[in-house]
Amino acid sequence: MAKPIYILNGPNLNLLGKREPGIYGSETLDGIRARAQAKGEALGHAIDFRQSNFEGELVNWIQEASDKASGLIVNAGAYTHTSVAMLDALLAIQIPCVEVHLSNIFQREDFRRESYISRAAVGLICGFGPKGYELAIEAITDILAQPE
Ligand code: DQA
Repeated sequence: MAKPIYILNGPNLNLLGKREPGIYGSETLDGIRARAQAKGEALGHAIDFRQSNFEGELVNWIQEASDKASGLIVNAGAYTHTSVAMLDALLAIQIPCVEVHLSNIFQREDFRRESYISRAAVGLICGFGPKGYELAIEAITDILAQPE
């Protein structure tokens, strides 16, 4: 059976819907999960959608994805701007990764402009809210369809 696409969400993304709605909108993480699952189904991919507030758990999931997933979509939340450990985990694996952010991180505070994990990602989608996850699934689908 084909391997799923893992979608990993970092800290505080479990609070979507209540958290700074002016920046992140009113959709909950469960709403985004449902959108992602529908998009995955439409494009023929199973989606394994997870969230953790713990950096080490996210690192473990990236390592696990190396064998168990076909591709990876990561919204690392605040760890985007701090986590060498997530970068190293992503650099260690061979499957493609697309980075996603709900907000446009380049329009916000200076410290959000730097993403540690971008150098391990094929590309970055930000500023489109929950739609960004669907765009990322489309992008990964195209990447996975390319001959190696
Ligand atoms: C975020 C942007 C990060 O800077 C922030 O820490 C988040 C969410 C986004 O999706 O826009 O938690 O990754």
